[in-house]
Formats: sequence, C-alpha cells, structure tokens
Amino acid sequence: MTARVLVQLDSDPHPSLFDSMVAIDAGVERLLTYGGIAAADVRGLVHGAMFTRGPEQLHHTAIFIGGSDVALGERLFDEVRQSFLGTMRVSVLLDANGANTTAAAAVLAASRHVRLEGARAAVVGGTGPVGRRAARLLAHQGADVTVVSRQADRAAEVCGEIRSKFASDSVAGEGDVRPSAMSDLDAVVRDARVVIAAGAAGARLVSEATWRRSPALRVLIDLNAVPPAGVEGIERLDRGTLRDPVVCYGAIGVGGTKMKIHRAAVRRLFERNDLVLDAEEVLSIAQSLDL
Ligand SMILES: NC(=O)c1ccc[n+]([C@@H]2O[C@H](COP(=O)([O-])OP(=O)(O)OC[C@H]3O[C@@H](n4cnc5c(N)ncnc54)[C@H](OP(=O)(O)O)[C@@H]3O)[C@@H](O)[C@H]2O)c1
Repeated sequence: MTARVLVQLDSDPHPSLFDSMVAIDAGVERLLTYGGIAAADVRGLVHGAMFTRGPEQLHHTAIFIGGSDVALGERLFDEVRQSFLGTMRVSVLLDANGANTTAAAAVLAASRHVRLEGARAAVVGGTGPVGRRAARLLAHQGADVTVVSRQADRAAEVCGEIRSKFASDSVAGEGDVRPSAMSDLDAVVRDARVVIAAGAAGARLVSEATWRRSPALRVLIDLNAVPPAGVEGIERLDRGTLRDPVVCYGAIGVGGTKMKIHRAAVRRLFERNDLVLDAEEVLSIAQSLDL
C-alpha cells in the first residue's frame, strides 16, 4: 500500500497545528510539515515530493499551502504550480489563513437562502484575507458585490484585484464589484440581500439598527467569533437562525461548515494528481457536499 502523504508548506515559523490536525482527521497517513517557507524553497520541496513516486502513484502525494500571510501563500501556490513538469505533478490546495475554506463556507450558507446570481451583496471588513475571498466568490457566483472598508481606497484596491483575477485567470466572474467606505454602510446594507461581516476579531462593524432598517436583507453572516460580535444582534452559534425576516449565521455556525469543507478539500487532493484548489474550486467542492 502506498501511504497518502501530505506536504504542508507554511510561511509561518511553525506550521499551523490547526491545519495539521485537519489533515490527519481527513485521513492523511503521513504528514510532512515545513515552516518558514519562502518562494525560493518551494521548487526543491515540490521536486522531492513528485520525483519519488511513479506517475501512477502520484495521486498519493499532495501539497497544502497555509500560513497567516495570504499574499505570501499565493506566491508559494504560484511557485508550486511553476515547479510541475507536465504530467509530473501532484495536487495542491491553498488555504492560507483558512481564507478559502472560511469564505466558501460563508458563501455556501448565503446561497442556501438567496439566489446569488444578480443579487446585491456586501462584504464588510472586505479588505482582510477572508473578506477578499468572500467578495471574489460572491462575484464569481454572479452577485453584485460592494466591498466595504474604513478606507475607501483599500476597498477600491480589493475590487481592482478581483477584477484582474477574473480578467487574467480562467476564473469566471459574473457579478460586479464596487468599493464603499464605512461611512456609507447604512446605504449599502439597505440595498443588500446578503451581508457578510469579515472584520477583525473583536471589531464591531454593523449595528443592529443598521441591518434592521434594510428592507432587502435576507442573509446576514458574521465571521468574528471574538466578542463583541462583528454584527450586533447575531449570536456566534447562529446557523440559519431566523431573526425575522433575516436568516443569521454566526462565526461558530459557519465554522462547523468550514471544518467539513476543509476536510473534504484535503480528501479530494488524493483522488487525482492534477488538482489545483483555490477559492473557486474549494467552493465547488463545498457545493458538492451533503452538509
Ligand atoms: N468562523 C471561522 O471559521 C473563521 C475562520 C477564519 C477567520 N475567521 C474570522 O474571520 C474574520 C476575518 O478574518 P481576517 O483574517 O480576514 O481578518 P483581519 O484581516 O484581521 O481583518 C479584516 C478587516 O477588518 C477590518 N478591521 C481591522 N481592525 C478593525 C477595527 N478595529 N474596527 C473595524 N474594522 C477593523 C480591516 O478592514 P479595513 O481596515 O479595510 O476597514 C481588516 O482588513 C475574523 O474575525 C476572523 O477571526 C473566522
């Protein structure tokens, strides 16, 4: 029997124990963890992973990219892909800072209640790693997304990044993305059917008065698990909780789904040797699960 080996590459000094635990729970038989990884380290490690097993065995080896710095994680992800030699390759999953699996869980939750295509959505705290991915996935699903930041120019930068991702990659983006400042939050929430709050831990972003005034709002999701809640009036354990007429999800409510998606994405890596799993692919895996 060829053991299922996951190579965990992490840009932080200590590879994430959280990611290691999930890998083991997903059935990985041998976990090889590397911390403090920079782009220059990647090629040698990837070649070590793919030249040790014959072509028919390569689906038993896979790579996971983590670390708290998502921009660096994206560079490592690119470097991994550039290190492959034709069909000599292994499958790879990017989930730096848990951003892809968390954003996929939030967008999946929203899609259970609202048809995202053509819907207005807002991501508050949309400049962080999780918010950027959530905005990108909502737009990918066809929503018209407003990215809200305390600094409108940072929100504009995120929108530009998403548009160029859609333009340059094979990622299809159907919806529009537009920036907004926090000072316009009331107007943004008033028009939105979906609001995802992806602000920093412990930061209150949306008051109950703001979301209660919205006639359009159907789904409200808060990803912050550290009190006070990012959205006033949402409980951490909310999971499809109706706060009439709005369906609410709190951080722990979304977190359970995130864990299932994370494990499923790791398991998927070992089905073939050519999977490249970024946010859109992780969402697609999430959509295929019976959650
Ligand atoms: N439920 C789960 O499974 C799960 C998993 C991972 C992460 N999370 C949570 O998801 C949230 C987003 O994660 P992240 O890593 O993307 O967050 P982050 O980078 O720490 O913060 C996101 C954004 O929040 C805004 N912000 C920062 N400090 C603020 C303050 N004092 N007041 C108001 N806004 C502030 C900033 O946006 P601007 O400066 O542009 O306004 C920042 O870009 C966090 O609460 C995190 O704990 C949940």
